[in-house]
Amino acid sequence: MPIPAAKKAFEKLVNSQGQFVVPVVFVTNAGNCLRQTKADQLSHILGVPITQDQVIMSHSPLRMFKKYQEKCVLVSGQGPVLDIAKNLGFEKVVSIDMLRESFPLLDMVDHNRRPKLPSSPVGNLPKVEAVILFGEPIRWETNLQLIIDILLTNGNLSSAHQSQTLPHLPLLACNMDLLWMAEAQSPRFGHGTFLVCLENIYKKITGKELKYEALMGKPSELTYHFAEYLIRGQAMERQWKLPITSLYAIGDNLMTDIYGANLYNRYLEERSTRKNPKAVAKMVAATGSTTAVPQEEEIDTAWESELAPPSATSCKSILVCTGVYNPNTEVPSDANHCIKETVFHGHRDFRFDPALVEPGHIVQHVEDAVDLIFEQEKFVPQ
Ligand SMILES: *[C@@H]1O[C@H](CO)[C@@H](O)[C@H](O)[C@H]1NC(C)=O
Repeated sequence: MPIPAAKKAFEKLVNSQGQFVVPVVFVTNAGNCLRQTKADQLSHILGVPITQDQVIMSHSPLRMFKKYQEKCVLVSGQGPVLDIAKNLGFEKVVSIDMLRESFPLLDMVDHNRRPKLPSSPVGNLPKVEAVILFGEPIRWETNLQLIIDILLTNGNLSSAHQSQTLPHLPLLACNMDLLWMAEAQSPRFGHGTFLVCLENIYKKITGKELKYEALMGKPSELTYHFAEYLIRGQAMERQWKLPITSLYAIGDNLMTDIYGANLYNRYLEERSTRKNPKAVAKMVAATGSTTAVPQEEEIDTAWESELAPPSATSCKSILVCTGVYNPNTEVPSDANHCIKETVFHGHRDFRFDPALVEPGHIVQHVEDAVDLIFEQEKFVPQ
C-alpha cells in the first residue's frame, strides 16, 4: 500500500512523458523475487513506469561476482531461488531440496519427514563449490543442517564431516536484517536471525568463526556501490549532465538505510582523501566491515573491476518518519525507525558507530525529502 506522500513525491520526480528528471534507483533488502517482478510492483504502486535497471534487490550485487558464476553453487532461501540465481548469471545451481532428495538420510529433525523406507544416497549431484544465502528459508532446521553439512564436507555430501576443512567454502549472504516490521505489533524474524543461527551453530561445532566472502543488501557498501553504478548508467544513457557527484539516500530505517548511506559516504570521502583509494576499497570489499579487517590476500576484489570507479563524491542520508506503513497505528512504530536503538541489531561483522546512524537530514515524508534535495542542488525541474 503506497504512502500517499510517496505518490506525490514521484509526480515531482517524473516529467509529463513519464521520464525521471533525475537518476533514481530503489534499493530494497527483499530478495525472494526477480528484479522485474519488483519493478512491476513499484510501477503499479507508485503510478510511474519503473524499469528493472532501477531496482536493486539484496541479491543484485551478486552479478559482480563473476568468479563464482561458472561454479556449482548451493542456494538457500524461498521463492524462485533457482530462477533468481540463473538470472544473476549462475550456471550450475543446486537447491536445498535437490540435496535433500539426493541425500535422504541427512534431514532428520522432523520425524515425519524422515525417510520411511531404508534408502541409500543417490549422490549424483556435482560437488558444491560455493554457498549463496538469498533470504530466510522455510524449515530452518533443514537448511541449517544441510548448509553445515556442505561446509563441513567441503561440498561433497557423500563424505563425512572433516574436522580440518578450513577455510570453509566461500559463503555469500544477502540481506542481514535481523528483524522487520510487518502487520503484527512486534517485529518479525528476518534473514539476519537465520544468519545468527548459522554463525553460532558453525562456531559451536567447529570452534571457528563462520566467514563470509561477501555480505550484501543494505547497509553493505557493496550494495551502495552497485546503486551508484546503476545511477551512473542512467545518467549516461539519458545524457544527463555528467558526472553525478551528489547522491541522496532516503529511507526510514536507521540501521539499514541511514547506516548504509553514511558508511558509503565515509567510503567516498576516504577514497577522495586517501592517496591509495584501492586500499580502502579492499578493506571494505569483503564484508563492508571496518572492524574485522580481513587479510589482504583472502579478499576477492574481482567485483571492483566490474564497475568503474564511482563518480559520486558524497552520499547524504535523509530519514523519513513515515516509513513502515501500519494502518492500525497512528504514531509510527518505534521498533526500527525514528528512534535510536539501544541494542545493536546490526550484523556481527558490522560495528555499531553512533555517527553512522545519525541522519544527514530528517523530514516527515518522502515528498519533503525530494523538495529538500531539489533545494540543496538548486534543481528546477523543467
Ligand atoms: C565425494 O566423496 C566420496 C566419499 O569420500 C568419494 O567417493 C567421491 O569421489 C567424492 N566426490 C567428489 C566429486 O569429489
